[in-house]
Amino acid sequence: MAIVVKIGGSILEKGVNPTIVEDIKDIFGYQKLLLVHGGGDIVTEIAEKLGKKQTFIVSPEGIRSRYTDLETVIIYTMVMVGKVNKEIVSALHKVGINAIGLSGIDGSIIRAERKKKLIIIDERGRKRLIDGGYTGKIKFVNADLLNLLMNNNYMPIIAPIAVGDEGELLNVDGDRAAAYIAGGIKADKIVFLTDVPGVLINNEPILKMSLSKAKEIMPKIGFGMEKKVLASIEALEMGVKESIIASGLVENPVKSAIEHRNGTVISNE
Ligand SMILES: Nc1ncnc2c1ncn2[C@@H]1O[C@H](COP(=O)(O)OP(=O)(O)OP(=O)(O)O)[C@@H](O)[C@H]1O
Ligand SMILES: [Mg+2]
Repeated sequence: MAIVVKIGGSILEKGVNPTIVEDIKDIFGYQKLLLVHGGGDIVTEIAEKLGKKQTFIVSPEGIRSRYTDLETVIIYTMVMVGKVNKEIVSALHKVGINAIGLSGIDGSIIRAERKKKLIIIDERGRKRLIDGGYTGKIKFVNADLLNLLMNNNYMPIIAPIAVGDEGELLNVDGDRAAAYIAGGIKADKIVFLTDVPGVLINNEPILKMSLSKAKEIMPKIGFGMEKKVLASIEALEMGVKESIIASGLVENPVKSAIEHRNGTVISNE
């Protein structure tokens, strides 16, 4: 059984932390692993250096996302695939891991349906319908290809971009891409590594939470973490047994998370 680890862009700003790499290497010695990464802030920084201002929208459910027009999806793909993905792959190669960096476009690993329209809440708190741009709703994960790689001792490192029905590049959220991949490959666990010690309520990390509790607290969780709680719910509903939202800034972050010494554990019971 495999474990999916989503590496938050929040912990990649200073490059790939060597303790994460060592930890992943140890676990990969006895366990199939697949990584999905984020990197939204790095995309924003480079897009703005290129003179392309980035804007963010909020859905009625309180989910925040990048407004992705054609120029933005091209920059998003360039940065996520060309920079973030390859930096992770090269850091893993340095310690001898057979990492293979791919995006959801390659081999149709992530297929999505382009959203035609988006409902957003504008600055005045009113609902508005806008053009969907280049964002997608994930519909299919090519688990056969991922299993083929993992069964041959490769560790797939997946950038969160999907391909649409007409071959369009589509921005998909990293947390949710990780959830769908975990569901698709029937992973045992999903681990979200980020820059906080788990889901915080009144500044205290919650150690354990049921699926129903996660649904109940969703509306109270702030931007960034709300997607991890949503993605955890989606992963559990697709059959993943456990989701752990944990700090990627501690020693052995993945090992401590799967041993329940780091982060918030969300499970079906
Ligand atoms: N209730 C909460 N508990 C914990 N963190 C929260 C909460 N509400 C909001 N957050 C924010 O969520 C952030 C983590 O999500 P964020 O999207 O910034 O990082 P990431 O997912 O690791 O990076 P990326 O999106 O680039 O992959 C935290 O740094 C914190 O500021
Ligand atoms: Mg995030």
